[in-house]
Amino acid sequence: MKTKGNVRMKKSIATLATISKIALGLAALLALPLAGCGKKADSNEILIGEYGALTGSIASFGQSTHKGITLAIEEINASGGVLGKKIRLVTEDDQGKPEEALTAVTKLISKDRVSALLGEFASSNSLAAAPMAQSSGIPMVSHGSTNPKVTQVGDYIFRVCFIDPFQGQVMAKFAHNSLKLGHVAILRDVKSDYSVGLADYFTQNFVAAGGAIAGDESYSAGDKDFNAQLTSLIAKKPEALFIPGYYTEVGLIARQARRLGFTGALLGGDGWDSEKLWEIGGDALNNGYFSNHYSVDNPAPEIRAFVEKFKAHNQGEAPDALAALGYDATRVLVDAIRRAGSDKPSAIRDALAQTKDFPGITGNITLNAQRDAVKSAVVLEVKDGKFLYKETVAP
Ligand code: PHE
Repeated sequence: MKTKGNVRMKKSIATLATISKIALGLAALLALPLAGCGKKADSNEILIGEYGALTGSIASFGQSTHKGITLAIEEINASGGVLGKKIRLVTEDDQGKPEEALTAVTKLISKDRVSALLGEFASSNSLAAAPMAQSSGIPMVSHGSTNPKVTQVGDYIFRVCFIDPFQGQVMAKFAHNSLKLGHVAILRDVKSDYSVGLADYFTQNFVAAGGAIAGDESYSAGDKDFNAQLTSLIAKKPEALFIPGYYTEVGLIARQARRLGFTGALLGGDGWDSEKLWEIGGDALNNGYFSNHYSVDNPAPEIRAFVEKFKAHNQGEAPDALAALGYDATRVLVDAIRRAGSDKPSAIRDALAQTKDFPGITGNITLNAQRDAVKSAVVLEVKDGKFLYKETVAP
């Protein structure tokens, strides 16, 4: 009875979908396969969907990525496009929220009918949207999501960045071997899969190297007052604080830690990488170190050329890691379309899985059997508003 009713309902939605725009929207939300709806690509273009935070508390990440993606697409289209077609980018703002990320990806797939997706950077947002890409058979390339679970969603999900077990190891080794630290306390964002994972990987590696974790406290993204957690951590006399969060909270945490008299090192991961970090935290961030995907000061000629091009396109603004990762993700995806000889999503997926030694700005990109990139990381020092290059760590 129930089954019959469902079948009848699905049928009637399918019928309505052909005649009514409202039903189209509803069916799209239910992710039913629809024929001929939305602003489909015309025959001489290939649609790529981008989703990310263009507004909200991590908007700096989304703005940077968008600039990197659009630069890559402009260049590709200027040199004739791919398979004789131009790339058209459709961008959705998810405000940095997981539920909005899912809505954005559902719309890009069901309404715009994109051939592939670029996004997200924040791991929790990728994790919210990736199951929709996977179940719809649309390949998704994350530029910056480093939590291992992201590509574990399925065989349509890829990333062009390294993952957090490696990033945690990089910072643990740097803390232990380069800074010669023995006691580090952790302050993690429990709302973020990225932050929780990176805190755990740092802990494992730091303890394995002979270090000790002096304390481990948490906060939730959006918090403004960290005095209670910091007071309790500082009382344990750590030599450094490891804060694997995003720049908005990290800036505030740095200020409050210094106000409480903490003079030790502050350590973090790629989530620190924004010019907004210094605007929020100021000189409280000196004696700060974080791991990242590339250094804008790298003297390699191809990186200098990218930095100059990017600046020329963006009123002198220097590209941060997400700008470089957005650029790389786009070029890896278009390279896969070219090698596939087709813009069919399943063919793009198969070609993406074969990505080997692609020369990226953030390093050479080879996608392994887990669809992750295996690449070097850099460690940067925060010094008077600049991010100074310290070292490169190979996987
Ligand atoms: N790695 C972060 C995450 O997984 C996102 C990020 C990437 C932030 C690169 C800054 C730079 O959530």
